[in-house]
This record gives sequence, C-alpha cells and structure tokens, in this order.
Amino acid sequence: MTARTVLITGANKSIGYETARQLGGLGYRIWLGSRDKARGEAAVEQLLKEGHDVRLLVLAVDSDASVQEAAARVQLEDGKLDVLINNAGILGAEPSSPSTQSVDDIRSVYETNVFGPIRVTQAFLPLLKSSDQASIIMVSSGLGSLTWVSDPSHPYQAVNALGYMSSKTALNAVAVAFSKELAAEGIHVNGVDPGYTATDFNGHSGYRTVEQAAAGIVWLATQDPSGPTGGFYFDQAIAPW
Ligand SMILES: NC(=O)c1ccc[n+]([C@@H]2O[C@H](COP(=O)([O-])OP(=O)(O)OC[C@H]3O[C@@H](n4cnc5c(N)ncnc54)[C@H](OP(=O)(O)O)[C@@H]3O)[C@@H](O)[C@H]2O)c1
Repeated sequence: MTARTVLITGANKSIGYETARQLGGLGYRIWLGSRDKARGEAAVEQLLKEGHDVRLLVLAVDSDASVQEAAARVQLEDGKLDVLINNAGILGAEPSSPSTQSVDDIRSVYETNVFGPIRVTQAFLPLLKSSDQASIIMVSSGLGSLTWVSDPSHPYQAVNALGYMSSKTALNAVAVAFSKELAAEGIHVNGVDPGYTATDFNGHSGYRTVEQAAAGIVWLATQDPSGPTGGFYFDQAIAPW
C-alpha cells in the first residue's frame, strides 16, 4: 500500500512542525510547508534525521503564485494529496484594541488566516479529489469560538483581539462551507483548536505543549471515512462555535 500523504502549511516550527513529526511517526509521507526555504530546509533536515519521510514544499499561503507553484509540484511528484492541514497563521499587531487596530493590519491577518486557507484549499482540491479518502483540517482557535469569548465565566472572554479572533471565527465558517460542498465526495473538512500553546506565536506564554496541541490535529487527520465533518474540535471533543 502506498503511504498516505499530508501537507501541513507553516510546518517549519511550532505546532505545524510537531504535527508533521507525529504524522511522520505514523507512516505518513509529509509535505512540509514553509514560506521560507532556509527555515524549511532546517526543519526537513531534522525530521529526516529522525527517520521521517518528508519533503520541503515552499509555500506562502498569502501568495497566489506560491500556492499555485506548490500545487503544481505536488501534482507532478504525487498526483494526489490525502490530507491538507491549513495550519499557518498570524496574530497581527498586539496589543491593540478593536478601536485602534488598523484596517491594514486586520486585512493582513485575514490574508493569512482566512484567504490563505481558502486559497490553499481551492488550489489543492483537484489533488485531494484524486485521493480515495481525503480530509481537510483548518487549524482554528478557541478564540474564534463566539460562545467561549462571550461567556463571562470563560478565560477567553477577557481577550479582545479583533483581527485575530474574528479571522478564526471566519475560518470556522470557511470549514463549514467547504464541508457542505465536499460531503458528497466523501472529503471531510473540520476545524480544530490546538489550545493555548507555548510557541513563538505568543512568546511561549501558552500553558500547553506542542505535543498536546498537535495530538488533536493528528486525531482529526487520522479519522476513517466514518469520521466527522463540518465540526469544530478541541482535544478530540466537539467545541462550541
Ligand atoms: N499557539 C497557540 O496558543 C495557538 C492557539 C490557538 C490556535 N493557534 C493556531 O495554530 C496555528 C499554528 O500556531 P503556532 O503557535 O504554531 O504559531 P507560530 O509559532 O507563530 O508558527 C506559525 C507558522 O506559520 C507560518 N506562517 C505565517 N505566515 C505564513 C504565510 N503567509 N505563509 C506560510 N506560512 C506562514 C510561520 O512561518 P515563519 O516561521 O516563516 O514565520 C510558522 O511556520 C496558527 O494558525 C495559530 O493561529 C495557536
């Protein structure tokens, strides 16, 4: 049997890298997405040393040309993709308040966190449709849950990062939209919250490890055809919108 293939965007470090490492350990062939060639090469070198089957795919999610070029390479080398993990994401200018965050900054957050996953998903869909069991995962955030951020008893209620939080709420809606279109073809699309995790993203202030964060992503990536679609998950359980 040929190995299942997975592309993880923004996998040169942190949660994306650890997701690549865990899926590599399960025998997946990894396309390690990195917008920077040198950072990507360093990550690939490390994973190769650990014995994983991994190739670098230079891919900036905010660039049409870069995404098209990356999809063409995967088409040429593999002709299919089994799992797409839209992990790359940015926080935007912080600290800022909704009344002071510039529209330009919010736009750049959306370009990476919302339009990026849409762009990558659309470009790789023909390859996913060539898989006999495809799935797409949007790495979202609990800060995109309107239920949690508006609940006075929830710790996320105290956070108010307009660009980032609304981008992840939008990303959850993007997951639902693709899940509806692709259900008939058996392609599953879900969102996942990795939880507040110690990475460069937050100056390592998160309380969770990248191993814990990646475990929930890997759980979704390894579901069989009877698995869920159109949902939002945290630690292998449904999370509220
Ligand atoms: N850490 C948390 O507490 C937390 C909580 C909830 C959700 N999340 C989500 O989890 C995902 C991963 O977060 P993380 O903590 O691992 O963040 P991170 O340490 O900042 O890593 C982000 C990754 O995304 C890449 N990236 C950023 N912009 C990109 C672009 N335009 N094109 C391609 N790659 C790009 C970065 O590449 P460079 O190295 O080149 O910058 C890096 O590889 C994000 O979507 C984030 O929103 C994180």
